[in-house]
Amino acid sequence: MKAIEVKTSRPYKVLLGSGLIASAGNLIKEVIKAPRLMVITDDIVVALYGEIVRNSLIEAGYEVDFFIIENGEKSKSLPVYGAILDYLADKAYTRTDAIVALGGGVVGDLAGFVAATYLRGIEFVQIPTTLLSQIDSSVGGKTAIDLDAGKNLVGAFWQPSLVIADVDTLQSLPDKEIENGLGELIKYACLIGGETFDIVANGFGKALERVIELSIQYKRDIVEADEKENGVRTFLNLGHTLAHGIEQLSGYSFTHGKAVSLGIIAIAKAQLKLNKLSQTDYDKLLSLYELYGLDTELPYGISELVKVACVDKKASGKNIKLVVMDGIGNCRVQNTALDALEEYFK
Ligand code: GLY
Repeated sequence: MKAIEVKTSRPYKVLLGSGLIASAGNLIKEVIKAPRLMVITDDIVVALYGEIVRNSLIEAGYEVDFFIIENGEKSKSLPVYGAILDYLADKAYTRTDAIVALGGGVVGDLAGFVAATYLRGIEFVQIPTTLLSQIDSSVGGKTAIDLDAGKNLVGAFWQPSLVIADVDTLQSLPDKEIENGLGELIKYACLIGGETFDIVANGFGKALERVIELSIQYKRDIVEADEKENGVRTFLNLGHTLAHGIEQLSGYSFTHGKAVSLGIIAIAKAQLKLNKLSQTDYDKLLSLYELYGLDTELPYGISELVKVACVDKKASGKNIKLVVMDGIGNCRVQNTALDALEEYFK
């Protein structure tokens, strides 16, 4: 098991390895003294890991409750958020109790936001069970729910007390979830370059745990330097300006990761056209998309997507912080006028 320390306002460890879920109770016991834990999970994950986690928490001496949401982005909503708060209040959860997020990005974001706001904030643990949540969303303390007007428009920065990333859970992922994780994996490959890009470009295989570790370490460095996204953390939004629009316009039938992969290739095409990205790097990226059978054409018109980008959090006033790629492993933030965005992507 690897332990990656994240030194943010609340310092914590990300534990990465095999067979960790069965020891979740004892691992949590080392950092959380709460008598009661509310496990927030979804209807798919509970069937796979509900019992093993429940037993482990009970064996470690915790009183345990479960709140099970429907799998999918639609659960990151005000009504579901409200229902969980009511449930916690009905069961008289106090500030010394804690939340456990067991599942993928949706569960982690929602449960994290519940933890950030219930009684003005209680501790929580992330047990990410998908590729996307292990490499990205469970680390760094971004928590959120969606509004009809857009994704993640209500949220808080609230760091977990522990992250338990058991790579064995990735064995049971359906293709759609692999595709979801791939988008964020490609993001880290493009941001970091070098070994990380090479592993992803070669189909990762047995190097999956290594590439998860490299992504978490990179993210750790970024969030330690800029916990609340006033600077370098913006880099982690590579591909996200168009991605959030694609997700929203598709009624969330496009996974976040698929949308991010489309957003990244759109940036690469624009940079190539502007002679800011070399043909060699563009071709390397294209080969990677071919390897995984990923689409490279945007599913919606650029003007429609730009309209959605205008209400995204990455917009401030008349500008948007667009993360652009000058090379693999060489990205930068470009302050772009919203009315120049359409032209940039055309
Ligand atoms: N997923 C982007 C971030 O955590 O900042």
